[in-house]
Amino acid sequence: MRAAVTSGAGGPDVLSVGEVADPRPGAGEVLVEVVATAVNRADTLQRMGFYPPPPGASDVIGLECSGRIVELGEGVEGWSVGDEVCCLLAGGGYAERVAVPVGQVMPVPAGVPLLEATALPEVAATVWSNVFMAAHLAKGERFLVHGGAGGIGTMAIQLAAARGAEVYATAGSAEKLELCRSLGATRAISYRDEDFVEVMRELGGADVVLDNMGASYLGRNVDALATGGRLVIIGMQGGTKGELDINALLRKRASVTATSLRARPLAEKAAICCGVVENVWPLVASGAIKPVVGTTLPLDEVATAHQLMEDGGHSGKILLTL
Ligand SMILES: NC(=O)c1ccc[n+]([C@@H]2O[C@H](COP(=O)([O-])OP(=O)(O)OC[C@H]3O[C@@H](n4cnc5c(N)ncnc54)[C@H](OP(=O)(O)O)[C@@H]3O)[C@@H](O)[C@H]2O)c1
Repeated sequence: MRAAVTSGAGGPDVLSVGEVADPRPGAGEVLVEVVATAVNRADTLQRMGFYPPPPGASDVIGLECSGRIVELGEGVEGWSVGDEVCCLLAGGGYAERVAVPVGQVMPVPAGVPLLEATALPEVAATVWSNVFMAAHLAKGERFLVHGGAGGIGTMAIQLAAARGAEVYATAGSAEKLELCRSLGATRAISYRDEDFVEVMRELGGADVVLDNMGASYLGRNVDALATGGRLVIIGMQGGTKGELDINALLRKRASVTATSLRARPLAEKAAICCGVVENVWPLVASGAIKPVVGTTLPLDEVATAHQLMEDGGHSGKILLTL
């Protein structure tokens, strides 16, 4: 089958499309014919050689897809050949076909075109598992998300707002700040011209912060928390090693958590996907949450897609069609 391949670790230009062996669905898996996949920051790290796939996962890059089931592995119940689905993957999405553990297969939310559904699995699972399962964001609480106009940010703003939180988001340009407001942010904060700590402190602090920056924002994120606040770190765009002010954490009775999705055990990923289908999909079906697609390119332009993400000018998700 056709799939994205790399000529070695490096920049976007190591990517091209080539031939790889067809995957076979194992017990408890379905084989999906991929209609589209999406680019994630982790894909760029994998391409550079910094983020190898977990044991047993495909070598082909790609953490999510939408498509149609073409074969059922042994013991699979509740799905049929021909079903339209969107899937969370440990790898293998940038390809014509991918074998997916059944717990990571989700129906396409009602009313969403199959192609647009590609933009949902990774962001919905990441935001649901971190902001709601780990940090327990509640109605009426103040929520700050960094990078509000990105893939994760656009879902985080919409889901938190739809569930009754007061949403604050950082972004890097006037256009992106406007996008954050249009998605439901009460206040969008320019990370270039404003101090998000000052903004949040004036409001009484953030109950939950979803952070993509890691080390470079660690101290300021703790400063921005309210008493009892929860900081959840999901990215390291600003480095991996920071200093934590334990005194500030103690005084605020605050917590710091960090998670990654890809290497979690199958049962945990299945529980997250169940939570997404139960809690997020109805809001997508009602129109309260929309997939935000910035760019759609054919798989043949996979190198351009990675360059776009690294340049940082995009908003929402970058999709690759098969
Ligand atoms: N742990 C997990 O399980 C998991 C899962 C998925 C994603 N992630 C991580 O989540 C992060 C976002 O992923 P994504 O797919 O949404 O990528 P993305 O669409 O490329 O978004 C990256 C975001 O970073 C923002 N940013 C850059 N510099 C910033 C700064 N100084 N302050 C605040 N924001 C800044 C950008 O804002 P502007 O565009 O406005 O400049 C952009 O919104 C990545 O770090 C990714 O690795 C983690």
